[in-house]
Amino acid sequence: MKAYELGCSLCGRTFPNDSLRLRCTECGEALDTPVIKEGKIKPTEKPGQNVLERYSDFFPFLNLEDDTRLGEGLTPLIQDDVLAAEVGVAALFFKNETINPSWSFKDRGTATGIILAKNLGHDKIGTVSTGNMAVSVAAYGSRAGIKTLVLVSSTIAEEKLNPIAIYDPCLVKVKGDYSKMYDVALELGEKLGIAFINSDATMRVAGYKTIAYEICEQNNFEAPDYVIVATSAGGQMRGIFQGFLDFSHSGYINRLPAMIAAQASGCAPIAAAFEKGQSKVSCFENPNTIAGAIQNPFPPSGNAVLRILKEYGGFTVTGSDDEMLTAQRRLGSRGLFVQPESALTLAVVKKLVASGKIKAGAKVVCVLSGSGLKYTAALEKHALKAHTCRLEDAEGFVSEVF
Ligand SMILES: Cc1ncc(COP(=O)(O)O)c(C=O)c1O
Ligand SMILES: [Zn+2]
Repeated sequence: MKAYELGCSLCGRTFPNDSLRLRCTECGEALDTPVIKEGKIKPTEKPGQNVLERYSDFFPFLNLEDDTRLGEGLTPLIQDDVLAAEVGVAALFFKNETINPSWSFKDRGTATGIILAKNLGHDKIGTVSTGNMAVSVAAYGSRAGIKTLVLVSSTIAEEKLNPIAIYDPCLVKVKGDYSKMYDVALELGEKLGIAFINSDATMRVAGYKTIAYEICEQNNFEAPDYVIVATSAGGQMRGIFQGFLDFSHSGYINRLPAMIAAQASGCAPIAAAFEKGQSKVSCFENPNTIAGAIQNPFPPSGNAVLRILKEYGGFTVTGSDDEMLTAQRRLGSRGLFVQPESALTLAVVKKLVASGKIKAGAKVVCVLSGSGLKYTAALEKHALKAHTCRLEDAEGFVSEVF
């Protein structure tokens, strides 16, 4: 593994890339991998190229030989002219992250996180999550043949527990204040030598850069005007933005998109701070939303997200549970089945056009971060219908209803 420096996203202090350190020892803010200024895409004729092979120049701080491949990334960017006309923008694209190996964008960051853990000689990894990240780390941990600890809240629904357990990690339900688990895990990691790949771990965040590289390539090396990202801890937003920054410095795009952090109105600590012009997020009291995957009341990378939005012309937006469900249904009718958290990105576009925050002629990308199959309980809210008929009546019945 090559020696590189990680930089504090606030004070700029640098640290060697020789540990799993994710916070600045001076100011406590998140650390970033360095911006890549001379990266080159490495295309190949070979089908099934690995995403990290294609963009290996942009990960000089990792020894990619320790790769654990499950086919993450290289997901489609789907243009939808019907929905573009409906919401009132010139072009609307969906980056379909639901087709990743464990059906969410998390796989990109889990892959890079595990590579770093292996590069550093760790033989144990872990994560704290009740949702997509738990599933992803469990899947990649098993694939890598590395001992994997997954800490979940004891109140986790059975529907979410079994899709983690199937990969055979050491799965522990923790009783008590789950919001303290992030910090407890980092201490545990130090003491027991477990490489925790949590929501905003530096190398997990770096893995999300590839979402931006692909969007640029799929859009003829033109950055969209806006990229909308469902935001909780802030890792996904940070990573995607870093990707656009790399491509801009490396000469692949000539401007940056405005990033939009979408949050559930029932848990919107970053949006609340942004609207008040604050530079620091505060804990969001009494969070309550169906969007469990983005319900982090005190996001560890919240301040870093605020800095990106402020410095580069981005902003926040919120959407209600009903708005997410309506958008989920509408996306279903366009062939895309995503979780309500991901549908939030569509839900907010119309509002943003109406309020003039997104210009009518804009090109917009919504990141569809996770599959609808992750949370089938949401389906019950839709009152979905099916017809029934007797076999002998089929012809008459179908002619009537179809
Ligand atoms: C489906 C989905 N979308 C968005 C997010 C938000 O990502 P982040 O916590 O990195 O902000 C998550 C996080 O778990 C998620 O599972
Ligand atoms: Zn610092």
